[in-house]
Amino acid sequence: MEVTAFTRQELDITQSDAARETLAKVKPELVINAASVTSLETCEENPALSRKVNCEAPEEWAKECGRAGVRFVHLGTDYIFDGKKSSAYLPNDPPSPLSRYGRDKAEGEKKVLRANPHALIVRLAWVFGHGGKTFMSKLPAILAEKEVVELAGGRTGSCTYAGEAARIILDLAEKKAEGIYHGVQSGTTTWKDFAEEALRMMRAKHGKVACREVRELPQDKIAGLKVPRPAHSPLDIKATEKFLGRKIPSWEEGLGAYLKEIGW
Ligand SMILES: NC(=O)c1ccc[n+]([C@@H]2O[C@H](COP(=O)([O-])OP(=O)(O)OC[C@H]3O[C@@H](n4cnc5c(N)ncnc54)[C@H](OP(=O)(O)O)[C@@H]3O)[C@@H](O)[C@H]2O)c1
Repeated sequence: MEVTAFTRQELDITQSDAARETLAKVKPELVINAASVTSLETCEENPALSRKVNCEAPEEWAKECGRAGVRFVHLGTDYIFDGKKSSAYLPNDPPSPLSRYGRDKAEGEKKVLRANPHALIVRLAWVFGHGGKTFMSKLPAILAEKEVVELAGGRTGSCTYAGEAARIILDLAEKKAEGIYHGVQSGTTTWKDFAEEALRMMRAKHGKVACREVRELPQDKIAGLKVPRPAHSPLDIKATEKFLGRKIPSWEEGLGAYLKEIGW
């Protein structure tokens, strides 16, 4: 498989004609749109940017891919939900976003499917992987260095190792899935449980890790988290597992694979 990937500097998905011109130049069989403005705080501060990148550009790319007969995959998020449901969210549950990011991502999904009914939307949540910007991605380095680690409490959700997310996305695309699928790992967690499991795995492997306490704080006490996030947003993966004909590994397995990848 040959992959052509672009940074924002190389390809701004919001530029007019970017989709048409890129499709003509690269002639791909499959386009995966992983571009997004993912900082909830930036989306509140710059709603026009959020709307353009998270909603309008994906619609344009979906339309152009449809015209060119190229499969289009768009990535979605659990933040389109308000977290008030007591069980895991199903792919067809109605969105109820708490933030500008969630609203634009939800509207983006709708626009993508309206523009191209053959498009595939894979919703992810709490992604962690090598080089990632998320707290979970950076957590092993933080646990290795800091004696006391404070993190946001009060939230339960699904999470995904980037390597497993890639596998799910490609498997779904290969099997010609259309519509909305959830692409997270099995089991639900909190940031604290995730951190403690990482700590346990890291200690078991190398013994020496600086962290001796993981402390939960209310979200509004954590710098940089000003915008509300859903308190309970696990994503149900039964439909994905049924379609793929396989079980998706647990988040603990994903965490173990990630730690191995980064040398822990
Ligand atoms: N990470 C998670 O926990 C998580 C959870 C649920 C869903 N998702 C979804 O997964 C997808 C990927 O997220 P991620 O975690 O990889 O986010 P990320 O680390 O913030 O990466 C997003 C990328 O999009 C690029 N970008 C922003 N505006 C662009 C534009 N106009 N044209 C081209 N590229 C642009 C960014 O470039 P710059 O860095 O140069 O700005 C960045 O490389 C998104 O659709 C997101 O909604 C992620």
